[in-house]
Amino acid sequence: MATSALSFPPGFLWGTATAAYQIEGAVHQDDRTPSIWDVHSRTPGRVRNGDTGDIATDHYHHWREDIALMSDLGIGAYRFSVSWPRVQPTGSGPASAKGLDFYRGLTDELLDKGIQPVVTLYHWDLPQHLEDAGGWPERDTAYRFAEYAGLVADALGDRVTTWTTLNEPWCSAFLGYGSGVHAPGRTDPADALRAAHHLNLAHGLAVRALRERLPAEAQISVTLNLHHVRPLTESAGDTDAARRIDGVANRVFTGPMLDGAYPADVIEDTASVTDWSFVQDGDTELIHQPLDFLGVNYYSPTLVSQRTGTATHRSDGHGASDHSPWPAADDVDFHQTPGPTTAMGWTVDPSGLYELLLRVSGDHPGLPLMITENGAAFDDYANPEGEVRDPERIAYLEGHLTAVHRAIEAGVDLRGYFLWSLLDNFEWSYGYSKRFGMVYVDYASQRRIPKSSAHWYAKVTRANSLPAPAPGSGH
Ligand code: FCB
Repeated sequence: MATSALSFPPGFLWGTATAAYQIEGAVHQDDRTPSIWDVHSRTPGRVRNGDTGDIATDHYHHWREDIALMSDLGIGAYRFSVSWPRVQPTGSGPASAKGLDFYRGLTDELLDKGIQPVVTLYHWDLPQHLEDAGGWPERDTAYRFAEYAGLVADALGDRVTTWTTLNEPWCSAFLGYGSGVHAPGRTDPADALRAAHHLNLAHGLAVRALRERLPAEAQISVTLNLHHVRPLTESAGDTDAARRIDGVANRVFTGPMLDGAYPADVIEDTASVTDWSFVQDGDTELIHQPLDFLGVNYYSPTLVSQRTGTATHRSDGHGASDHSPWPAADDVDFHQTPGPTTAMGWTVDPSGLYELLLRVSGDHPGLPLMITENGAAFDDYANPEGEVRDPERIAYLEGHLTAVHRAIEAGVDLRGYFLWSLLDNFEWSYGYSKRFGMVYVDYASQRRIPKSSAHWYAKVTRANSLPAPAPGSGH
């Protein structure tokens, strides 16, 4: 049993993360045009309770207060995303000066408070103009993204050193165009795979555009929600189901981005859905750009088996739909990993994070890693004293940070950890029903209340170590 505090390497980056559509609100302000999430959330039946990001946490007007909160909590880095339709309203052509000014002000204030800005260029809010022109299944969207990336780099490149092209392209492609649970809500597996390729291409083209503009010390990355896929049993069928899901969850992105090619088994597995003729000569070279680190988002592991009976069974944690987000995998069953769950129904399993980090670092030696999201939703509420007590979230974070520490001890080059999320916010198709923040938001008054987990996290970030586990806490 460990009895002393677990220290992290000097310079380990302690951060927190958000995304534009989930927090900003002000959707009609200045030059901003609708994104696919504005349109999707206003479509009846798409988002729980009919919630939209119209107001969200009104961060567009509360950003100074939100940065002050982070500063009080000793947060070292803030990962936020830039809203494409705010900065380039029609998805092509010139930038909006007002849109860029918002992010200039935000980054200046962060730097002023000693908080490192970490910019994500795309966290799912495609301008609806580009969806009307075909969206991610359309090749031109990748070129539009590179143009937009260049505009943001021109505006913020003198003050932001850490950049991420895409957040979780798996969700954009397979929830957006496969299961339809996310915007734009389309349900065609061939389009989902086309979207995946064009997101890969967008990443490669954007990295090139960033390198052309940014100083040599810029750190450029992409964030993937790598699935830690385990087979239900050791049987050949279950092991093969895990291989196939790993292919369309992870290797369809890491293959071209990190190794310069689509894995042959992924192309073969999906042959009934598409012939991959949308991959043009030279594309995989363009996608395969050197990266300074890889961002990994982890919440919960994935457990699969090969379907044996006729019962259909899907609980992959990615929302209910009659359409699967998994192309050509209708004979794979998803199972709930045993153990306690969060308010999302996701199993709390820090060993999955440890195993995932070891696998990624083993597969890609020399590539530093950063955990760009990890956290949990619970049914938080403010008590009559106005406090929000969330011991379950503290336990979740403690378990996962212990796993992170073990991974570092085992030799993983892990540079930082970003807690999802700074604030309770618009949780996509779940609307405001799920609270992931370390800071509670009373949506009626926009009052912010740091939860107990925020105070706990502040101690960890300040000490650069996890407190020794309390005697008898089971660690
Ligand atoms: C991730 C998203 C983030 C948030 C968390 C809970 O998939 O990147 O925006 O929704 O899940």
